[in-house]
Amino acid sequence: MVKSLLWEYHEEGNAFVSNNVCSCLYLLLTVPKEGRQISDALLQADCAIVTKRKFSRTTRRIHSRGFPPGPMPLPFVGNLLHLDAEKPHFSTQKLADIYGNVFSLQLGNRHFVFVNGLEIVKEVLIHHGENFLDRPKFPIISDHAKTLGLVMSNGLPWKQQRRFALSTLRNFGLGKRSLEERIQEESRFLAGAIENEKGQPFDPHYQINNAVSNVICSITFGNRFDYHDSQFQKLLHLLNETGIIQRSIWAQLYNIFPALMKQLPGPHQTIFKNWEQLKYFVRTIIKKHQENRNPLETRDFIDAYLNEMTKENVSSSFHMENLLQSALDLFIAGTETTSTTLRWALLYMAIYPEIQERVQSEIDSVIGQSRPPAMTDRDNLPYTNAVIHEIQRISNILPLNVPRLTTNNTEIAGFHLPKGTILICNLTSVLFDKDEWDTPKKFNPNHFLSNGQFRIREAFVPFSAGKRACLGERLARMELFLFFTALIQKFSFQAPKGVELSLDFKMSLTLSPNQYHICAVSR
Ligand code: HEM
Repeated sequence: MVKSLLWEYHEEGNAFVSNNVCSCLYLLLTVPKEGRQISDALLQADCAIVTKRKFSRTTRRIHSRGFPPGPMPLPFVGNLLHLDAEKPHFSTQKLADIYGNVFSLQLGNRHFVFVNGLEIVKEVLIHHGENFLDRPKFPIISDHAKTLGLVMSNGLPWKQQRRFALSTLRNFGLGKRSLEERIQEESRFLAGAIENEKGQPFDPHYQINNAVSNVICSITFGNRFDYHDSQFQKLLHLLNETGIIQRSIWAQLYNIFPALMKQLPGPHQTIFKNWEQLKYFVRTIIKKHQENRNPLETRDFIDAYLNEMTKENVSSSFHMENLLQSALDLFIAGTETTSTTLRWALLYMAIYPEIQERVQSEIDSVIGQSRPPAMTDRDNLPYTNAVIHEIQRISNILPLNVPRLTTNNTEIAGFHLPKGTILICNLTSVLFDKDEWDTPKKFNPNHFLSNGQFRIREAFVPFSAGKRACLGERLARMELFLFFTALIQKFSFQAPKGVELSLDFKMSLTLSPNQYHICAVSR
């Protein structure tokens, strides 16, 4: 039995990595320090059975064809120990310094190529984008999400689902209210909740999470959830917990030995339970929509999708399971990313009060205090806009992007990448490229200003680039601008008395700030 499980591992090429819907694979490329002993023991015990001959043949074959260089892999674990679990994007920088802008690592028995720097990342994502459109499969994800939905699907179904989701999002506000109005309304709720803290220290994590999530919930499900709704709060906590476990050793082991790990107890089982609860939540909402929808009035994404399913000659990828996964993908991707960025934003404002004051004075002179910010204000607020961009650059919430898979044998910068190679576009290497930014490591809104006017930069790639770039970029930009501006208009964010706020980060679904408390003083 053990032998057959190991062959499953070996033959199917399951990676020593995992993934998550929100994509911070960088988290999952590594084994946390505390887990390494378990992993080493298990690997030594189990992998001894796998034939060394076959293992070394795979390594030799790949390396003999102009494959990018990299450090010598150890048997079975490969280069796992070359990545620091807490700061994998720092490790990749060091490796790029040694091996160059295109280097490879072997994790488990799969080969990963890392590309670094603006020029090569552009070459991969844009000029040769067609060869890197797919996502690799990782059992911890594919065992529940299959290859459905928006984030993990490939080929024609991905194209169809993405096109449909993009056009539906573009049409929002479907129905009566525009997207902008929805975000403005939610900003008011969020400001109200923060006001209730009365300037005392509080942790803004779940209020921001709930507010941001409400925007995508209102688009996808047709309604928002009160910040005191305990069931919805539980769901947001489940999401957070799932992100944390997905980067644990248990998830990594699941990716190597899925059949074995399925039988064993452990936190990895919690991931599947959590996914079931998340799916149950979305399934219930879809069911209600089926019962009470009016095909002539499209209220939200689910209604639009149900309409699409009833069309004649509709492609086979529009079915109930894909609706469930696409709605779940929108919910998760639309919640974590933007809310992490806003949490960074408040922290940076409290740490850099002089920058916060300059944003406030710009807002005061252009908008004043009597009306909420609107999208038409953005062009008149160049400094505020530059600050938001700089927050996104420096907070770098998806440092290694979401992995791609080479769909054809491809040449990149003179190296040969065989079909099936996993490709990691190191966004950190672009967002912190010293040839692109004056002070890459320092928070500096001037990066986005020229003669007092806002200027966009080619190396600004937090949403990635090319045909598979972030699907929610437009929405996220609108949310960041409206939420941030509305909060800074109403409050000054400060460290609690006697507390020094820290920019230390942790890896969960995204690269996020450590939990912090902050004071929001009404202006
Ligand atoms: C600050 C906010 C956000 C950032 C930094 C961000 C970043 C990213 C990145 C880097 C990717 C991977 C792109 C690639 O593979 O090259 C991605 C994918 C994706 N994002 Fe976002 N995102 C944000 C907000 C959102 C929002 C609000 C939504 C909701 C609509 C969303 C939905 C998605 C989806 C569905 C994908 C998968 C696209 C695909 O595979 O075709 N994101 N995002």
